[in-house]
Amino acid sequence: MSLLVLHGPNLNLLGTREPEVYGRQTLADIDALLAAQAQAAGVALCSFQSNHEGALVDRVQAAARDGTRFIVINPAAYTHTSVALRDALAAVAIPFVEVHLSNIHRREAFRQHSYFSELAEGVICGLGAQGYQLALQFALTRLADQA
Ligand code: DQA
Repeated sequence: MSLLVLHGPNLNLLGTREPEVYGRQTLADIDALLAAQAQAAGVALCSFQSNHEGALVDRVQAAARDGTRFIVINPAAYTHTSVALRDALAAVAIPFVEVHLSNIHRREAFRQHSYFSELAEGVICGLGAQGYQLALQFALTRLADQA
C-alpha cells in the first residue's frame, strides 16, 4: 500500500514565494517531513510536484495502477480552475484530502471556490506546512484501519 502527495503549480517556489502567505519552509523541507512520517509508519510515500495540469492528471491516472491507496493534494491555483484534475480524481476514485497552506477563505474571492472540496474526504487550510502532516496522519490512520 502506498500514499501519494501531489503539489500543484508554483509550490516548487515555497520558501521564497510570498513567505508571509505560504511560510518559509521549502517544498523539499515539507516532503522530507512527510517522508519521515510515512517511513515511521512503515508506509511507502511518493511526492510529486508539477507546474503542468496534464502532468498532474497523468500522475493521478498512474496512481490507479500503482497501488496508491490515498492521496494528499494541494492543487494550488488549479484548485480554482481545473475541472480536468478534479475529473481525474473522480475517475480513479482514490480517497484524498485537500490541503492548502493558506486560509483560502480569508483571501481573494476567486480563491474561495474549490473544484475539489466536494469530492475530498476532508479539507485542511490555513495551518501552513503542518496541514500536510495532519492530512498524512489522517491517511495513515485510515490505511491502518483498513489493513
Ligand atoms: C494554495 C492556495 C491557492 O489559492 C494558491 O493558488 C496556491 C497555494 C495554498 O496552499 O494556500 O498556489 O493552494
